[in-house]
Amino acid sequence: MSGSTILGMGHYVPPRVVTNNDLAILMDTTDEWITQRTGIKERHWIEGDVGASELAEHATRGALAEAGLEPKDIDLILFATLSPDLNFPGSACLLQARLGIPGVAAMDIRNQCTGFLYGLKTADAYIRSGLARNVLLVGAEVHSTGLDVTTRGRDVAVLFGDGAGVAVVGPQTSDDPGAAHVIDTELHADGRFAEILMVEVPASRLNPRLTLEMMEAGRHFPKMDGRSVFKHAVERLPEVIHSILKRNGYTLADVDILVPHQANLRINEMVARQLGFPAEKIVNNIQKYGNTTAASIPMALHEAVQDGRIQKGHLVLLAGFGAGLTWGASLVRW
Ligand code: ACO
Repeated sequence: MSGSTILGMGHYVPPRVVTNNDLAILMDTTDEWITQRTGIKERHWIEGDVGASELAEHATRGALAEAGLEPKDIDLILFATLSPDLNFPGSACLLQARLGIPGVAAMDIRNQCTGFLYGLKTADAYIRSGLARNVLLVGAEVHSTGLDVTTRGRDVAVLFGDGAGVAVVGPQTSDDPGAAHVIDTELHADGRFAEILMVEVPASRLNPRLTLEMMEAGRHFPKMDGRSVFKHAVERLPEVIHSILKRNGYTLADVDILVPHQANLRINEMVARQLGFPAEKIVNNIQKYGNTTAASIPMALHEAVQDGRIQKGHLVLLAGFGAGLTWGASLVRW
């Protein structure tokens, strides 16, 4: 059983930039409020009809080029998203059609901000067991068209951006044994807190699933108990980080760089303080992109590889927390 390796990555955001001042035209908010509470200065939002699979295709083309592979070399697509193009079928199928590789297995992962880490563990398991060779692992979201961009929805609407991040994960080969080797991934969930961050309707548990009254009440928009999410995040993230390091025989001092999910700069700053981990070793790009949920870890990871912050040999720690609740961490030796 060989381990798995990240062979190449790509990321993509749509060209339209929406600043905090742009949002202040739509709702009662200010650049100061958003910056102070979240660190976000701007985000990219799609224009027109663009689904998550379209953003993913752009990022995939880049990731395949970096890996030196073609679509036909992929034998499994894992697509992490909370904003699929359609309620069903999943966006993995739509991306597969875009790539022109009919017959290749394709599945969606519904684990929100931890979706990329759930996907990484799944890819790693498929590759280690020999069930797949090259896995296309996608995190992609179109949030902008699902937000309440009025004052009623301002606590959530200012947080989210659109984007895609992709990793091609393949077997570790003997000629390049150290390349971005996936060491371990630890995953958790606690469904007791599902309703502190959710989109409630349309829902199969309701009959009818969607009514005009529900829409008028805004129940089809994301709802969040922000303080509760914050509180859980700053407890669970340090916990899972300590746990994955311990079970692999490392300490925080061994970690060269931490790439956390980009939910809120304040969450990442508090987690760093609790860990006693140096701020300069943490990758944060939420200022430019907002929270892109399943895309945020691969986007931040790829940017840090491209700008040289991640170097060959570095021990890279990925950590995510989000709706579900779900949380997890991965260790990768670059
Ligand atoms: N602009 C201006 N005022 C606002 C805005 C806004 N965009 N949103 C809310 N307010 C107001 C509220 O109405 C409230 O006013 P009031 O005091 O008159 O009632 C005031 O600001 C404070 O509101 P709170 O919700 O208490 O603000 P808080 O300090 O908790 O900050 C925030 C809100 C930023 C969402 C915070 O709770 C948070 O960061 N939570 C973490 C959740 C998170 O990051 N989620 C991301 C998605 S989940 C994930 O990816 C993990």
